[in-house]
Formats: sequence, structure tokens, C-alpha cells
Amino acid sequence: MPKRAKISIIGAGNVGATCAHWAAQKELGDIVLLDIPRPDAPDQHMPKGKMIDLGCCAPIDGFDSNLTGTFDYADIAGSDVVVVTAGLPRKPGMSRDDLIQTNVKIVKSVSENIKQHAPDAIVIVVSNPLDAMVYTAWKATGFPTNRIMGQAGALDCARYRAFIAWELGVSVEDVQAMLLGGHGDDMVPFPRLTSVHGIPVTDLLPEDKITACVDRAKVGGGEIVKLMGTSAYYAPALGTIQMVEAIVKDKKRIIPSAVYLDGHFGHKDLFVGVPAMLGKDGVERVVEFKLTEDEQRLFDESASHVADLVAVVKNLFPELA
Ligand code: NAI
Ligand code: 2OP
Repeated sequence: MPKRAKISIIGAGNVGATCAHWAAQKELGDIVLLDIPRPDAPDQHMPKGKMIDLGCCAPIDGFDSNLTGTFDYADIAGSDVVVVTAGLPRKPGMSRDDLIQTNVKIVKSVSENIKQHAPDAIVIVVSNPLDAMVYTAWKATGFPTNRIMGQAGALDCARYRAFIAWELGVSVEDVQAMLLGGHGDDMVPFPRLTSVHGIPVTDLLPEDKITACVDRAKVGGGEIVKLMGTSAYYAPALGTIQMVEAIVKDKKRIIPSAVYLDGHFGHKDLFVGVPAMLGKDGVERVVEFKLTEDEQRLFDESASHVADLVAVVKNLFPELA
């Protein structure tokens, strides 16, 4: 009898709760949503409340997942996948990097709990600044590199594809694209590898329109923060669940993800966004391809920004070096 997958989500805020929502709706497995008690509201139990609410969607949508809202890490035992969304989101005017001082402490302590309670899990980090938080989770769990990855490329690529489709007035399903680099404004979308049902986008749109879509994808997170006063969560959560689905269904999907580079694309000992094959063993392969000189330069710049943030992590917590 096949066993249901167990998916735990740490941080029951906007992104975490929306991950639970998509995962339940896609019936990917049993779901645990964990947060911390609020000192100013000791009688409340937000993760439990959200999971009861989500559970009441089940009769309408017809999913049979067991849903648990908890403050207790014992409940994540036996998880196949743990998603880390705990941490502050940005406010208008803040960059993702401004979150590092607070979020590194949170991600470090969450990761130590994952190591203790779900030592065999595959971990997907979402908290920002993303690439440096993936490094933090790797060091704090000590897990092998195939079991640690970060979500950013799935979202950034989806944004880029949406903007191209909106510009052309075609179905988003027909737009395919590739994107590399860190989850920052210096991420590297690839117009030469963007196509509309196989037709190069460069044959369909003038250069200035493509550049406008590329630029909008780079600052897409900031555009939404400015409008809402907090970070986006629908697309970030669905990008994360695309990765969870690839793992629990062993789909071998190629999804741009922040994964460990061991000489790939000219970089070593760094987690940065590259195309990765995701399946039951987590990151099963980095899919390397030849970059042009310009693309390599842009990727190197983005990777060097990530390396600077990792240096901040090491400076704050020498034990993570
Ligand atoms: P939110 O504020 O709605 O939720 C964060 C939750 O984390 C809160 O419920 C908080 O109580 C919880 N939390 C804080 N410390 C915790 C701890 N030690 N253990 C367990 N839970 C803890 O924030 P939101 O919008 O859900 O964003 C979460 C993180 O995801 C932020 O760092 C944000 O920047 C990042 N993000 C990343 C994206 C990506 O593509 N990688 C996209 C969108 C957001
Ligand atoms: C985003 O790109 C803030 O990382 C978050 O929406």
C-alpha cells in the first residue's frame, strides 16, 4: 500500500498558510503547519485555526489530507518534505537583504529543530534573503546537499513567463523560459532561451519590450511589496508547491532552484539559482549548459552578491562557517 507523503511547513504566515492551501488542494499528502505562540495573544492558536479553516474546504474540494496546526516540533516527525517560511517579510522600501539579521536567527533555530525532529526530510527554504538562508539551513541541519534547496527560481520564472504572455496576449501555458542567479534584483533571465511554443521570443517581440519584461521580473517582488505593504504570497507559495510536488511524485522536473553548486557554472560551495532536476531524492541533478560571455558575467555578479550575504551569515554566526 503506498504511504501518503507528509509535508511540514514552518511559519504559518502568508506564504506558509498559502503553501498549505495549495498542497491540500492538490492532495499532495498530509500537512503540518507550525508556528510559534504569540506572547501578546496567549489564548490564540493561529496554526490550528488556519488548519481547521482549511480542513473545512475539504468537503467542498474533495481532498482527504490530514491537516495539523501546531506549536510543537514533535508533530513534524517523519516528514518527507519540510518547507521553511518562518521569518520577517519585507516592508515597502526594504530590500530582501535588509532581513538578514533577524531571519538568520530564525532560520538557524528552525533548522536545528528540523535536524532533531525530521532528520530524513528534504528541506525547501523560502525565507529571505533566500540564497543565504538556504546556506544557513544547510549548515545548521548538516543535511547532505541534495536534501537542501531554496525556492526562488520557480517564482521568478513564473513572473517572467506571465509578463511575456501578457505582453503578447498569448496563453501563459505556451511561454517557456529560463532564469538563473540569486533571488535578488540581479537575477538573470535569459531572453535567448525564452520561447512561445518553441518560437524564440526574440522573433515575436522587439528588444525593448523583452527588456521591459525582464526588468519587471527582476523587481516583481518589490512592485507587489509597494502595492500591498508586505510580500507577495500566492505565486511564491505555488512556486514552492511546484517543487514539493516534483519531489513527492518523483517527477524529475527541471525547476530553477537555489541548489548547491560544486563547480557548476564556474562556482563552488554556494547555493544559487540554477536549473535543477527535482525528484524523490531532492536535488537529483544540476542541469548545466553553456552560457555566453555576457550571461556568465551577469551570473557571476549575482553569485558574488550571494557570496557577500553568506559572508554576513558567517560573521554573525561563526559556527555556520
Ligand atoms: P509572514 O509574516 O506572513 O509569516 C511569517 C511567519 O513566520 C509568522 O507567522 C511568524 O510568526 C513565523 N515565525 C517567526 N519566527 C518563527 C519561528 N522561530 N518559528 C516558526 N515560525 C516563526 O511572512 P510571509 O509573507 O509569509 O513571508 C515569510 C518569509 O518568506 C519572509 O522572509 C519573506 O521575505 C519570504 N518570502 C520569500 C519568497 C521567495 O520567493 N523565496 C517570496 C515571498 C516571501
Ligand atoms: C518576492 O519576490 C519578497 O521574495 C519575495 O516576492
